[in-house]
Amino acid sequence: MACLRIGILTGGGDCPGLNAVIRAVVKSSFFHHHCEVLGILDGYAGLVEDRTLPLTEAMVSDILQKGGTILGTSNTAEPFRYAERKANGEISIQDRSQDALRTLKKHKLDGLIAVGGDGTQTIALKLSKLGVPMIGIPKTIDNDLACTDVTFGFDSALAIATEAVDRLHTTGESHGRAMVLEVMGRYAGWIALRSGISGGGDVILIPEIPYDIHKIREAIEARIRRGKRFSLIVVAEGAKPLGGEAMVQQRVAGSPDPVRLGGIGHTVANQIQTITGLESRVTVLGHLQRGGIPTSFDRWLATRFGVHAVALFAKKQYGRMVVLRGQEIESVALEEAVSRLRTVDPQSDEVCTARAVGTCFGD
Ligand code: F6P
Repeated sequence: MACLRIGILTGGGDCPGLNAVIRAVVKSSFFHHHCEVLGILDGYAGLVEDRTLPLTEAMVSDILQKGGTILGTSNTAEPFRYAERKANGEISIQDRSQDALRTLKKHKLDGLIAVGGDGTQTIALKLSKLGVPMIGIPKTIDNDLACTDVTFGFDSALAIATEAVDRLHTTGESHGRAMVLEVMGRYAGWIALRSGISGGGDVILIPEIPYDIHKIREAIEARIRRGKRFSLIVVAEGAKPLGGEAMVQQRVAGSPDPVRLGGIGHTVANQIQTITGLESRVTVLGHLQRGGIPTSFDRWLATRFGVHAVALFAKKQYGRMVVLRGQEIESVALEEAVSRLRTVDPQSDEVCTARAVGTCFGD
């Protein structure tokens, strides 16, 4: 069999476990399939602008446990709507997909592995429709990709968020305060829900369940009547009040991912202090959730995903994304993978479990 040449890029926001995937793709290509791997730098930007890095087995030694991505990433680069800032500061948007195809041809790549979330996989699907052999690998701390039980990166972010709830617990208890923790999660409240359950959050606010501040007041006042001088409130950045919208902090012109959320933690804390009189403090966990070393689960999952992605390539099963179902790695068509988001079901056992131990969702 002629030696295959596979490209790999990491797109969207980074997360712990990306280097573990890159390592698995390169090592299994080298040891098992005898393929060559070319790294594409900075997500789809490197594909459009022809910026690459040949990856050898030696180059991926010792990166398994490292956070970030040795390839760099971008959550603004979209080959079909490529944004460039002109000298006068204006943003020009052009279809640069043909440049992306030229890069693939120039480097004689037989196809591309795209590691990323919803945005990255949507672009992978578009390239696949242009005839590029594509394989997707799902990553995102938000855990909002459908079809897979879990994405890698989520477990590491969850561990950090849970530790933050634990730390806020002791200081909140000492001072008798309402401690509000704002975590990531734009459209899906998985990080808030699971860190809230794991850390014993008294109030959990998620995008899927709009909240009424007066229900939160009732929950906090009931705790005070039971002798609890403090309350822990875990808020997803995408949480919204009944009849309201998520709080936008910034809009990024020309980006396929134009909205940055944030600010809901401060709003909720101010309201709690005003209507309950309980002194309130806010912690916005931000990118601490995305940095640093991956958990063993994320290294394990990323390694399995990487190995299975190369195996799909070797079998010429293109246009698919690897997924975890139960204990098995399977694959689904990219169309299906990006057809919907995986959000928290308000009626799910997880939400009912949290309610059963007294957690308030603000509804
Ligand atoms: O999608 C992952 C994510 O971390 C979201 O949870 C968050 O809203 C967003 O990315 C932040 O993006 P940026 O790194 O551009 O601030």
